[in-house]
Amino acid sequence: MTAPTAPGPGTPGPQQPPVSPADRRVSRRIASIAESATLAVDAKAKALKAAGKPVIGFGAGEPDFPTPDYIVEAAVQAARNPTYHRYTPAGGLPALKEAIVAKTLRDSGVQATPADVLVTNGGKQAVYEALATMLDPGDEVLLPAPYWTTYPEAIRLAGGVPVPVVADEQSGYLVSVRQLEAARTPRTKVLLFCSPSNPTGAVYPPEQVEEIGRWALEAGLWVLTDEIYEHLTYGGVTAPSMPAVVPELQSRCVIVNGVAKTYAMTGWRVGWILGPSDVVKAATNLQSHATSNVANVSQAAAIAALTGDLAAVDTMRAAFDRRRQTIVSMLREIPGIACPEPQGAFYVYPSVKALLGREIAGRTPTSSVELAEVILEEAEVAVVPGEAFGTPGYLRLSYALGDDDLVEGISRMQRLLGSAG
Ligand SMILES: Cc1ncc(COP(=O)(O)O)c(C=O)c1O
Repeated sequence: MTAPTAPGPGTPGPQQPPVSPADRRVSRRIASIAESATLAVDAKAKALKAAGKPVIGFGAGEPDFPTPDYIVEAAVQAARNPTYHRYTPAGGLPALKEAIVAKTLRDSGVQATPADVLVTNGGKQAVYEALATMLDPGDEVLLPAPYWTTYPEAIRLAGGVPVPVVADEQSGYLVSVRQLEAARTPRTKVLLFCSPSNPTGAVYPPEQVEEIGRWALEAGLWVLTDEIYEHLTYGGVTAPSMPAVVPELQSRCVIVNGVAKTYAMTGWRVGWILGPSDVVKAATNLQSHATSNVANVSQAAAIAALTGDLAAVDTMRAAFDRRRQTIVSMLREIPGIACPEPQGAFYVYPSVKALLGREIAGRTPTSSVELAEVILEEAEVAVVPGEAFGTPGYLRLSYALGDDDLVEGISRMQRLLGSAG
């Protein structure tokens, strides 16, 4: 339902009559949010698929595996038990908080208590609430780029100012302390750190995690560390938690994590914030007025996931690793594509700069957005352009899809892009 005559969002120009608040249909704050480019690509690909087109999607950031049976079974049991038909405390079931504390010690070596934990509606709400809790208007957040597309929007919604710090393929998409220090100002409050990274799959080596953590500590900054891909690393690489390698940082560090990627549970919507109890208490107050508790049955499923072993993620990791090697070697066969080998998550982030401005199927894309459109329309393959992650000239491809589809999709790209004039 829209009223076509009313003005849209935005401020009037000098010649226009003033727009009354009631005529501003959408607040300036919300009107400034960009649509999630990753979800938009996924939606476009799904719509084309529903229309009968044989689209292969490399857009979605979710494992293609079902949630393991024992987790589903725990949810079925909970759904049959009226206790789970009620609200839980806004901050989450006590048993789930205990499980998160135990899991954090087991996997990261970080000590915490249940008072340090807030259970959120996925990692995304955790990011949003953590930033809303940490930032005052004008506070700057150092944001290594390429960054996950949600971060800058969540920072701005919290009144903060994202300060991208760009790393390219030559550095393996890893920012250095020198770059971070150059971007720091008296207004800097938070460093947002994500390893393994979405969108690049880059994993910071332990020494570099320590170096960055020590620098943040000495600079008196807070660190928000997103560890959602912690278990998805390949070739013997590990992704240590920053407060585990720099324990003194823990009183100024907020961890974001969740079950989505480790247990193929994207649809269940369970994540968490783990940090200093005063910050977590404030974030819990926010959540208590915004969404209250995460679905009770989903929390029961998360308890089963976190108290079980990591066998399911071991199986997924083996499949992702195989696909990772296939996609990297096939992309590298395409002239004009430079594809570093990612060491974590399930994304590759090739540079396509050398393809821009060249003729492809009668068109001449000059940006990675345009190139992604040509690839979708001509090869029926969905990829996400680097503009979504703060670095034009790249594409992100998720390899969380079946092996046959992966080979078919990249073969189509090879045929299309191999013809570039
Ligand atoms: C880096 C990163 N953090 C957090 C999330 C949030 O995951 P969810 O909200 O599904 O738990 C995602 C999902 O794509 C992500 O890539």
